Order: sequence, then structure tokens, then C-alpha cells
Amino acid sequence: MLADKRIFFLGAGSMSEAMLKGLLATATLPPDRIVLCNRQHLARLHELRDGYGIIPSRDKLADIATADIVILAVKPFDVTRALAEVHDALSADQLLISVAAGVATAAIEALIPAGIPVVRAMPNTSSFVQESATAICGGRWAMPEALEIARQLFAAIGTVVAVDEGAMDAVTGLSGSGPAYIYYVAEALLAAGEAVGLPEETSRELLIQTLYGAARMLRETGKGPGELRRQVTSPNGTTMAGIAALDDAEVAAALRRAVARATERAREMGVQLSQR
Ligand SMILES: NC(=O)c1ccc[n+]([C@@H]2O[C@H](COP(=O)([O-])OP(=O)(O)OC[C@H]3O[C@@H](n4cnc5c(N)ncnc54)[C@H](OP(=O)(O)O)[C@@H]3O)[C@@H](O)[C@H]2O)c1
Repeated sequence: MLADKRIFFLGAGSMSEAMLKGLLATATLPPDRIVLCNRQHLARLHELRDGYGIIPSRDKLADIATADIVILAVKPFDVTRALAEVHDALSADQLLISVAAGVATAAIEALIPAGIPVVRAMPNTSSFVQESATAICGGRWAMPEALEIARQLFAAIGTVVAVDEGAMDAVTGLSGSGPAYIYYVAEALLAAGEAVGLPEETSRELLIQTLYGAARMLRETGKGPGELRRQVTSPNGTTMAGIAALDDAEVAAALRRAVARATERAREMGVQLSQR
């Protein structure tokens, strides 16, 4: 089980901080079971030690060799070098979890000793408030226990779904880029609120609560978005007039295109990475 494990974060950037913050806040792991390193930025390691009581690594290879789980959290273009540096400290009784966007499990497996289970995860930026929508998939050596440990780990920063690796580009197009789509819509609605005469602060407060409330309604009533929308749309009422304007502008089709384009782009970028 996860509570008994030692975790090594290879990379001490924003994603590692979001994850360790969630792990500590949910008491999934105590700080003395978490070790992390980066490449050169010592002040950053001290900041994380002072903020969270995490141990910065003094001897990367020795610390990795004694870890049960290694989280690969470097930028995709740093993956090859980061894994080459620690290759000899890795062994098949460990689990490697990668959050590197677009990097396939097979590409990682090719850079580490054979037999090490690899789980690839795609969290999103809401992990900073422990509300990530994370998808995980396993590589060729990842048995169900490996996926279960990864699920528990990402459950500390939000919700987790397991998918086939073939779906990862689509996940990137939907929930990876998803927060930005919602910010885009929020930005437009804020401007729209001001255009009909609301002060910016009032618009902002009403809008944030509207988004939050709608998300909770979707989650807690178990009803689909279509059903919830129909429930609040009375014939010839205000909502119906607003929705008709959205239909005229083909907003649903635009969102379909946005997700399709982002999915396609994820696929293109993945191909570039695996050729590095
Ligand atoms: N941020 C997100 O919302 C998000 C969402 C989904 C997936 N991801 C993925 O998460 C990964 C990390 O993203 P991030 O935003 O956390 O990046 P980041 O803030 O730039 O952090 C990257 C970290 O990797 C370290 N690093 C680089 N090369 C290294 C090496 N050879 N050995 C050890 N550490 C090394 C860097 O150290 P120095 O600072 O010392 O160079 C830095 O601490 C990326 O692959 C990204 O695709 C991020």
C-alpha cells in the first residue's frame, strides 16, 4: 500500500509541488518518506524543504536506489537525460510514474532497465488546488497493483480515471487543456457581464460561484449536463434566449473543434518526442 512507500521526485517543479502538497494535506504519506531533487536550482529545494518538511536529496543515485516509487516530473525534453543519469540506480522492484506530457510508456521503457513497471499520468493544472482530473495508463510491465498505487497517489490531488494509452492524446485534448477552455469561457462571460452593466468585481464573484455551483450540480445530482440545462430552460424564458444565441454562434461545434485540434496537436507533439 502507498502509505508504506518511499517516493522520490525526479524534478522539483510545479507539478511535483502540487503532488507533494496533496500527499501531505491528505496525510497519504509523511514528509520523511518523500525525497526530491532537481537539476541545479538549490534555492528551490530549500524552499520546498522549508515549506513542506520534504528532504532534498543529497545523493541522487543512492536515494533513488532505495525508493519504492520514482516520479518522473521533468519537462518532456529533459526526460532522456534525466533517466540516463539515474539509469543504474533503477531496478525492477520499483515503480516509475511519469507525468511528462506526451511521452509514451514505451519511450520511457526504452530508457530504463527492462522489467520496471511504468505508469503514465496526465494530470491537469487544477492539481495546484488538489482538484486535478488525472488519467493514468500502464506500460508493458505495469500490473494492476502498479496502477492501483498510482491511482492512490493521484487521488491525493483530485479524481483519477484509468484509460488505455491510446486514449491519452484525447485526454490531453479534453481534460489536459480543459481548464484553459473553461477560463476562456469565463473570460468571455466576465466581459459579457460588464457589457450588460455589471461592475467587474460583481461579475467576477457571481461568475466564479456560478461555475463552481454548476460543477457541483453535475457531480452531486448525477444528472447529465443536457438534463440539467433543460431543467433550467423554461419555454420563452431568459435562459432559452441565451442558449439560442449560443446555438446561432455554433458554440458546441467550436468546442468539438477545440478538443479535436488539441488532441491532434498532442499526437503530433508525442511523435516529435519519441523521435528525439
Ligand atoms: N504543470 C502542469 O500543470 C502539468 C500538467 C500535466 C503534466 N505536466 C508535466 O509535468 C512535468 C513537469 O512539469 P512542471 O510544470 O513541474 O515543470 P518545471 O516546473 O519546469 O519543473 C521541472 C523540474 O525538473 C527538474 N529537472 C530537469 N532536468 C532534470 C534532471 N536531469 N534531473 C533532475 N531534475 C531535473 C528541474 O530542475 P531545475 O529547476 O534545477 O532545472 C525542475 O525542478 C512536465 O513533463 C509536464 O509535461 C505538468
